[in-house]
Amino acid sequence: MPAVVIVGAQWGDEGKGKATDLLGSRVDYVVKFNGGNNAGHTVVIGDEKYALHLLPSGILTPGCIPVIGNGVVVDIGVLFEEIDGLEARGVDTSQLKVSASAHVIPEYNKVLDKVTERFLGSRKIGTTGRGIGPTYADKMNRQGIRVQDIFDEKILTQKVEGALELKNQILTKVYNRRAVTVEEVVEDLRSYADRLAPYVADTTLLLDSAIVDGKIVLLEAGQATMLDVDHGTYPFVTSSSATSGGAATGSGIAPTRIERVIGIVKAYTTRVGEGPFPTELFDESGEFLREQGAEFGTTTGRPRRCGWYDAVIARYAARINGVTDFVLTKLDVLTGLETIPVCVAYDVDGVRHEEMPVNQTDFHHAVPVYEELPGWSEDISGARSFEDLPPTAQAYVRRVEELSGARMSVIGVGPGRDQAIVCHDLI
Ligand code: GDP
Ligand code: IMO
Ligand code: MG
Repeated sequence: MPAVVIVGAQWGDEGKGKATDLLGSRVDYVVKFNGGNNAGHTVVIGDEKYALHLLPSGILTPGCIPVIGNGVVVDIGVLFEEIDGLEARGVDTSQLKVSASAHVIPEYNKVLDKVTERFLGSRKIGTTGRGIGPTYADKMNRQGIRVQDIFDEKILTQKVEGALELKNQILTKVYNRRAVTVEEVVEDLRSYADRLAPYVADTTLLLDSAIVDGKIVLLEAGQATMLDVDHGTYPFVTSSSATSGGAATGSGIAPTRIERVIGIVKAYTTRVGEGPFPTELFDESGEFLREQGAEFGTTTGRPRRCGWYDAVIARYAARINGVTDFVLTKLDVLTGLETIPVCVAYDVDGVRHEEMPVNQTDFHHAVPVYEELPGWSEDISGARSFEDLPPTAQAYVRRVEELSGARMSVIGVGPGRDQAIVCHDLI
């Protein structure tokens, strides 16, 4: 199995980090292919808890080579903060590879991300403020700065000069901020050159050679299907391709190499930031999920919006990504509920929709059609086989599987590395 993709099937924070870590020992490379330090992946190994933002979760598995692909936007300061933090805890990060073609997040884009949000007021996206949107916009606008540019002062200066011509107009005239000098940007980026150099590689060649040599490459998405710039709830999305198609462009691995697509889906739904969310709960049930599931953002600490499982979204994610297997996470969080509603379709102005409405306005007006499933009260965190689950928990998994368009191959019953039921091996 040459290449395997892991994607989020909802609005992020499904437990991609844990799933990647779970597979870490079976794969040779883990590649982050999109996004940047807007991601927040929590991985729990024994008593140790790690919060990763920019580094691929595979960095925690000895022997697995972590790669930051060309599709990622890199805040170099954050990269070294994360490396230093892990090294201080005894994690070896020396094998990390960073694509020479990945774009870097200059300081001015972090400023622009935050001031743009403030300027939008009630129309804001609720971004993480990490400069992600402006940096991808620069990339598409052909005004971006790439990792390789840092090593050539002349080229870097030319590119920064070009970018700042427009950026400074926007900063000073639209947002009333101070102008940035070419020297300060160049100096800041150049200050990392010596330390960065050993990590930089032609990662597309590296990964292709690895596949030719029979190695297994895991491509790990940040964000998720509903935050994908093309397929998500635009404009309330991130600015990258977080779906399986993005795994090919964001890593340089050809689509024909990808044999399996693993969708990570929570047993309920959460969302951070603004935008539509049909099954969102505003009552004590939402509070229950937030408290039981510890639903507070890994990156910004914001309370996550919580709601019931939405099978329309799961089916959509299965279709867009070509999901072969789902990992159903956080089933344990539902323990203690008498009944558990599952959204099977939407009602939009009296019309039943089994599929995601193509029109954004319809999605904003979608009212969930629920099916009520019986709950369970037994502690399931120690379950390690499907039969260990109470019959009603088994029935819940089977029903959401039936509704979601792919098999539930792994079921998460706790945050720990071993707290999973493997029904079908993923690799
Ligand atoms: P990611 O962004 O998709 O990697 O997910 P996050 O790490 O942001 O959020 C998922 C959270 O759920 C983390 O705190 C994980 O430790 C935790 N988690 C993952 N799987 C399970 C599970 O099966 N049960 C419970 N209770 N927690 C889980
Ligand atoms: P992981 O990888 C949840 C959301 C932000 C905001 C929108 C745009 O941990 O699942 P951005 O800063 O990317 O321009 O913000 O996307 N968002 C996430 N929500 N999990 C994430 O990552 C997210 N990354 C971005 O809250 O609504
Ligand atoms: Mg997260």
